[in-house]
Amino acid sequence: MSLFFRSALLFGVGFLTVGLAAAEENAPPPRSVQSSEPNPASIPQITFSSVHVDGPYVAMTFDDGPHTSLTPKLLDLLAAHHMKATFFVVGQNAAEYPEILKRAVRDGHEIGNHSWSHPNLGKISDDGVRAQLRKTDDAIVAAIGVHPMLMRPPYGSVTPRQKRWIHEEFGYKIIIWDVDPLDWKRPGPKVVCSRILREAKPGSIILAHDIHPPTIEAMPATFDQLQAKGFKFVTVSELIAMAKPMPTKASASPPAAHVPSLGVSPDPARPADSQPMGAAPAQSPDG
Ligand code: NI
Repeated sequence: MSLFFRSALLFGVGFLTVGLAAAEENAPPPRSVQSSEPNPASIPQITFSSVHVDGPYVAMTFDDGPHTSLTPKLLDLLAAHHMKATFFVVGQNAAEYPEILKRAVRDGHEIGNHSWSHPNLGKISDDGVRAQLRKTDDAIVAAIGVHPMLMRPPYGSVTPRQKRWIHEEFGYKIIIWDVDPLDWKRPGPKVVCSRILREAKPGSIILAHDIHPPTIEAMPATFDQLQAKGFKFVTVSELIAMAKPMPTKASASPPAAHVPSLGVSPDPARPADSQPMGAAPAQSPDG
């Protein structure tokens, strides 16, 4: 064999080996999240409206506060039920009631950014969005000493492009919801309670507002009945930390009988994705 052919052969083998290694690296992991998505495990998820978890865990979230009397009342209720929750605070309220935020964190709850004055972020300039989030982040840091990890856009309204730069600039995960009792319409405590009871599933992110008296009135029965159904309450960041990959069809282990299989909501910020599934709308009258 001539030198030329030997070199060509070696080169060919080398090329093939590199090619195979690259193909292996690009292959989806054994328990891929969703077969319809191109290698989703490699793309960090930015937006969540529910989380696929193995146990009966849910995250209660309360928006638009803190409220001078209702939020402390809610904190008492949460403590009595040994529950953790997440508060998406409006910056101007956070700046006015830093002691309430301090107590919430002492009690084990999480604080998220819900903008400074609750505008529709999808309809204002990037600089406007930046100022809304920055001022609120500053107010939260002034109250509790740490930056929030999460933000929830008012009305659930934020464009895919905004999500990407907000995540890059602030590091926030963007949190929507999959259970919305429309409590801001004040349909009465019983209706708020029954809507949450009907829609809550393992991995749910439940939306409510701690600025409406009937919402707070609905919570004792809501908490009692969710706990009677076996639900356990964690913060949104804790829920996300529990995320499990979606079982594939080939998966050997079926989910436990009492835990319905829930989808990790697709991330609308990713080009291949469609709208989030479940009840969470891209826009809601409130959030
Ligand atoms: Ni809101």
